[in-house]
Amino acid sequence: MLSKIRQSIVSHEIFELVQADLKVVEREIGVESIASVEAITTINQYLHAGGGKRLRPILLLLTAKLFGPSNETARQLGAVVEMIHTATLVHDDVIDLAKTRRGRPSINVVWGNHTSVLAGDWLYMQAFQVALRERNFHLLDILISLTQMMVEGELLQLERLQRMDISEADYMELVDRKTASLFSACARLGAIAGGADDVTESRLGDFAWNLGMAFQLVDDILDFTSTEKILGKPAGNDLREGKVTLPMIYALQTATVDERRSIETVIQEGNYEQVPFMHVLKILERHHSISAPMNVPMPLQPKHVSPVLRSPTSPLSEPFKPLWRGLQTVSPDRRRRGSDWRRG
Ligand code: IPE
Ligand code: IPE
Ligand code: MG
Ligand code: MG
Repeated sequence: MLSKIRQSIVSHEIFELVQADLKVVEREIGVESIASVEAITTINQYLHAGGGKRLRPILLLLTAKLFGPSNETARQLGAVVEMIHTATLVHDDVIDLAKTRRGRPSINVVWGNHTSVLAGDWLYMQAFQVALRERNFHLLDILISLTQMMVEGELLQLERLQRMDISEADYMELVDRKTASLFSACARLGAIAGGADDVTESRLGDFAWNLGMAFQLVDDILDFTSTEKILGKPAGNDLREGKVTLPMIYALQTATVDERRSIETVIQEGNYEQVPFMHVLKILERHHSISAPMNVPMPLQPKHVSPVLRSPTSPLSEPFKPLWRGLQTVSPDRRRRGSDWRRG
């Protein structure tokens, strides 16, 4: 399933449009990875070589392209958002005691928690250094608010670990903070690099926010349905880490006492030894909740998105269409349930 999503989201059409710029972004990340302390440079190079989908710089570059040929600011900011994203992953893997990231041992496993926290800090600051070169307070404002939002999200997530009474709204709040806010910032930065006015910047930010929400919902479904080989991190990870995500929130709404007890056991034990992963999947299936989040009524519908796509200045507004189509393959049918959690 993920490969299908990958093909559709990072489709050739999109990729070709930003390929040349993305190469510059990669080079920039490489250059900015060098620290005066060797350990940090080594970690940064390990991180950089580990790959990743580069969705955030792609989104930023595509947004900038809506306004004309992309420019140096967009490329620099592409590096900035990927570095911020990487820093959050480094810290996240320390917090989650992760073993694997992007198909390789995670930084915390190779270098330990202490070094990883500092490497993450360094990477955040390096990202801000690069952003600072633009001498644009508006950019910095977005980036600093975003980073605080994400850190607060991680903290809230920590507070909510192992809780089985998480509501859909609690979950959506975490997704907003963890993922959607960064997607939104990417589009806004791309818009700023392209010279967009405030209203357009904000509309593109909203579009990308919805994209980010949808993306994280899918990621959380894949945590149950995909494999480690595809994900680059083990399946069933979220529940083992004590994270009750949307498919499980739905299942718990109608679960029997025995089923709840089984789920609780996995969460408390932090493994699938007493209750095998297959058993958990069966519970989810019984309550038709694995793919139910696909049907959450999210506002990423053509009627909401099309005004964003119809940028009058943009001969290249087409690129968002495959992105949009790609999302539809995983896509929320938003006719059901209202807009209780949706922004705006
Ligand atoms: C991982 O993001 C964290 C989530 C928001 C799910 P990605 O799935 O974009 O990670 P990489 O950069 O491709 O590894
Ligand atoms: C990802 O959160 C980290 C951020 C988006 C800040 P998760 O813990 O849910 O994601 P994975 O499963 O480690 O990629
Ligand atoms: Mg994690
Ligand atoms: Mg996850």
